[in-house]
Amino acid sequence: MERLLRNFFLFLSKNKFFTKLARKYGLRFGAGRFVAGETIPNAVNTIQKLNHQKLSVTIDHLGEFIDSKQEAQQAADDCIEAVKAIAEHNLDSQLSLKLTSMGLDISYDVALENMRRILDAAEQSGVFITIDMEDYERCETTLKLFKELRSDYENIGTVIQSYLYRAAEDIEDLNSYNPNLRLVKGAYKESPKVAFPDKKDVDENYKKIIKMHLLNGNYAAIATHDDAMIEYTLQVVKENNIPHDKFEFQMLYGIRVERQEELVKEGYKMRVYVPYGNDWYGYFMRRLAERPANVAFVLKGVVGK
Ligand code: FDA
Repeated sequence: MERLLRNFFLFLSKNKFFTKLARKYGLRFGAGRFVAGETIPNAVNTIQKLNHQKLSVTIDHLGEFIDSKQEAQQAADDCIEAVKAIAEHNLDSQLSLKLTSMGLDISYDVALENMRRILDAAEQSGVFITIDMEDYERCETTLKLFKELRSDYENIGTVIQSYLYRAAEDIEDLNSYNPNLRLVKGAYKESPKVAFPDKKDVDENYKKIIKMHLLNGNYAAIATHDDAMIEYTLQVVKENNIPHDKFEFQMLYGIRVERQEELVKEGYKMRVYVPYGNDWYGYFMRRLAERPANVAFVLKGVVGK
């Protein structure tokens, strides 16, 4: 049943008719639980509410699919606008972005140029930028581009996915850059040639890279909704006297909200990943596909209105 629902939501995420319909009504009926809205003022509003609850934020602009240099430049301009809004409203927020939306599939240099423009603006505004990690095909280039930028900028980080066999090697390889890394399990469908097929192995490797990165003395963002991984992190932190300002937890907006608040109350830094923008529909359907149980929350939201 769960598999059936998963496939159904993945189908909806790609269907043009439903995309159109949902764009018109969806944010009012449920999607608003996972997405901040379509515009920067919507995002600012949500960030202010979260900051008020002592939750830090990273915002992610959900743009349209990019297939020209001009569209990539526009996506970079949107990011710069978001960075300026963060500074103008004095928000506790970083920015996350995907290199494909910066034009990586057009060319390395297009993405690099757009990233430099964003990082210059972000440096001036004191905003930190995280490059999300996409599928395996783009992993090597993403890390190459990250290293090139890290040599010139302090305010940049990226993501390592524990489902990849290469994850631990990448942690070691990046160590000389003193990187601020978000550690995740990984969200894409990958071949067993490059990624652990069994969840048990992904979890073990996740623990391994958390420990490695923290013991290397680098800043770690532990991005998971999994209590076992959160408990493991706290155990490593305690056993090795790792200061609270060397790590944080991250979760997605609208997911495990009570746990987010609990971690803040326990004195830990908790950052919420808040997506906003026109392309919210695909993101929303992928969240439902990931965990069909979320449908119940959405339905409660609809009925409750
Ligand atoms: P997992 O899916 O293994 O679930 C373990 C347990 O956690 C569940 O049994 C349940 O108890 C709890 N749980 C999980 N989801 C829940 C839910 N929706 N509601 C309630 N409980 C839940 N991926 C990527 O490839 N590149 C990236 O750049 C990023 N960036 C990113 C940023 C942030 C802030 C987060 C939180 C995640 C990402 N990810 C990501 C996604 C990540 O790789 C992963 O797919 C998801 O976080 C799901 O894995 P978990 O570690 O949360 O737990």
